[in-house]
Amino acid sequence: MPHSKGESPILDDSYMYVCSSTELEDDDLMECETESDTIVIGRVEGKVYAVDGICSHAHAELVDGELEGTCLTCPLHFACFDIRDGSVLEGPAENPLNVYEAVEYDGSVWVSCERR
Ligand code: FES
Repeated sequence: MPHSKGESPILDDSYMYVCSSTELEDDDLMECETESDTIVIGRVEGKVYAVDGICSHAHAELVDGELEGTCLTCPLHFACFDIRDGSVLEGPAENPLNVYEAVEYDGSVWVSCERR
């Protein structure tokens, strides 16, 4: 079963399935929803990262933006965030994005619903 956490030693109950690892290539973005948050997941040089899916500036969906290297650019006013730690690299946004734990396990991408 590809979506199963099985007996994973690294995935606790806070993790949810995002997609198959092959669906998320470098510079791709995926969005997933928890009960309270929207999260965007991206891949940079083979590693997966996850931050808030809604821009801290004016509520744009960051999955509609672009990921180039570690820079996640908002589609609305083009603020740039570092997807590794949520920090603002370029305004107009002033507040950083929350960061979530993203991992790959058994050919799938998983994200924790709990903020880091
Ligand atoms: S909504 Fe993202 S920069 Fe304004």
